[in-house]
Amino acid sequence: MCGIIGYVGPREATSVILNGLQRLEYRGYDSAGVAVLCGGRIEVRRATGKLSRLLERVQLEPLCPARAEALNIGIGHTRWATHGGVTEYNAHPHLGMKGHVAVVHNGIVENYAELKQGLQAEGVRFTSETDTEVIAHLLELAIAAGECFEDAVLHTLRQLRGSNAVVVMSVTQPDTLIAGRLGNAGGIAVGLGEGEMFIASDVPGILDYTRRILFLDDGEVAIVQAGQVRVLDRNGRLVGKSAHVIPWDPVSAERGEYRHFMQKEIFEQARAITDTLRGRVHFESGVVKLDALTLPPRPPRKIHIVACGTSAHAGLVGKFMLERLARIPVEVDYASEFRYREPLIGDEEVVLGITQSGETADTLAAMDEGKRRGARLWVIVNAIGSQAERLAEGHIAMRAGPEIGVASTKAFTTSLTDLYLLACALAQAFPQPNAPDPFAAARALAQLPGWVSQLLAPNPLFDELAERFHAHEHFLYLGRGVNYPIALEGALKLKEISYIHAEGYPAGEMKHGPIALIDERMPVVCIAVRDSVYDKMLSQIEQVKARHGTVIAVATEGDVEIACKADYVLWVPEAPELITPILSVIPLQRLAYHLAVRRGCDVDQPRNLAKSVTVE
Ligand code: AGP
Repeated sequence: MCGIIGYVGPREATSVILNGLQRLEYRGYDSAGVAVLCGGRIEVRRATGKLSRLLERVQLEPLCPARAEALNIGIGHTRWATHGGVTEYNAHPHLGMKGHVAVVHNGIVENYAELKQGLQAEGVRFTSETDTEVIAHLLELAIAAGECFEDAVLHTLRQLRGSNAVVVMSVTQPDTLIAGRLGNAGGIAVGLGEGEMFIASDVPGILDYTRRILFLDDGEVAIVQAGQVRVLDRNGRLVGKSAHVIPWDPVSAERGEYRHFMQKEIFEQARAITDTLRGRVHFESGVVKLDALTLPPRPPRKIHIVACGTSAHAGLVGKFMLERLARIPVEVDYASEFRYREPLIGDEEVVLGITQSGETADTLAAMDEGKRRGARLWVIVNAIGSQAERLAEGHIAMRAGPEIGVASTKAFTTSLTDLYLLACALAQAFPQPNAPDPFAAARALAQLPGWVSQLLAPNPLFDELAERFHAHEHFLYLGRGVNYPIALEGALKLKEISYIHAEGYPAGEMKHGPIALIDERMPVVCIAVRDSVYDKMLSQIEQVKARHGTVIAVATEGDVEIACKADYVLWVPEAPELITPILSVIPLQRLAYHLAVRRGCDVDQPRNLAKSVTVE
């Protein structure tokens, strides 16, 4: 999704903005631009491709040659094209016809065609194919008609349909930026400095300068000046907002000595899970205490999990954890499906969102739908202060730290840990007959960081597998029971960063069709850890081998039977069944990473993808 940066204060605006855009590169983009107010004029530079091309452009043609201004103000943008091709003239910021206003935008103006027609009928000439440009012209005309900057922005936003986040500036008020948020479009964070203010679509864009952040909610507008911020609702009434202090430091959003953010985040998982557990489990007694989620007086009759992508795979694992430990019925939906299937939600039921970014439009909409239908709303979320966290009545933070790589890794394993904690907490609060001991289940978590650390040890087999299979164009991933979702997740990791077609399947389904795919050219990853369906997986491996498939097994350390049957084995420590998915996914993350690197892919910014999908 698009990245937005704004700045007003004594620093040189262009460098603050370009630095912020570099911090947001991981969000995925195809062009970028920056605009600053200089000597009463708005100067703009834009470029397609990587941010480095914009940096070169700005060095060749500085925006404010002599820093004439004591106060500097500007906005910047990385674009992920929705309306209009990847061209310089479609890149943001967009100006009004007279160049009196500049706009950067995230989201989709759903009624832009009719607005554009109306503007063209008034003689407005468009210079781009974007929906964004209508905002610039509407705003400039409103100011030209005599409305003050603030009122003109409110008036303009009221004409837009769809989810949109904008930051605008005007030559008529050279000390002010105005940011607005409509619907679930990508967030707007306002960073509070000393005598300076920052605006970003995502916290890592401004962490270098401040950790005190205000987040705009749907319909709110922030009037941002160097020394103050006022937040208004859509009717122009003042809104009280309190600042969040973000616990992440800039370094944690750095790559450090790692080659890719994804690599760093894979190897951070033992530390991340330790943070996830901290203060939530009393390991002697096994008592679990969730810090920001109060359990209801009676157990939920049902939990509806809604999420997208990797987070949806976490939800599928969570179903096993919650049903086995807490004996609570669970349904899992892709959020994009849930929001349109008219879900039946009864009394005393919970909708549980799972989202790393807390800004995924489909997940937010599904949570909204659940709330509208009377469900209690909980969320497992990583981004502090995100829309999802503020929408829910209770949340469990993943505490994974900033996850920059587009392919989600530590957020996945920390969300599984949170789901396990929730299952234990519910089972302890509402004991069920014939359920496993929820205190013993919680005590087992004490070994989890150690088990994960073992899986992060150097292992030459990954390079060997990458060398052997990097030219393959198809992979199959098979799993059963609680590790079936890990087959889906392993396949998603591979396809999204290496562009190899990979399919995850419940192993039991193979004989109903997909086994026709098996031959000597088809590598098959089989998750066959020692769990209640181990014997089934063993026979599955035999079926694949009988058809000359190559088997890469994920197996429990010491399992000699698997070692005899599989072509390659990725070992994981022995652990309680419901904890095994947190372990079995890690070798699959590393396998995907090594294959993608061997294929020369852009691991942290895979083509066509964005870190946070804030549009439908
Ligand atoms: C995972 O590797 C992908 N980047 C993607 O599927 C992601 O999990 C999905 O878009 C959901 O994101 P969220 O957790 O921030 O809501």
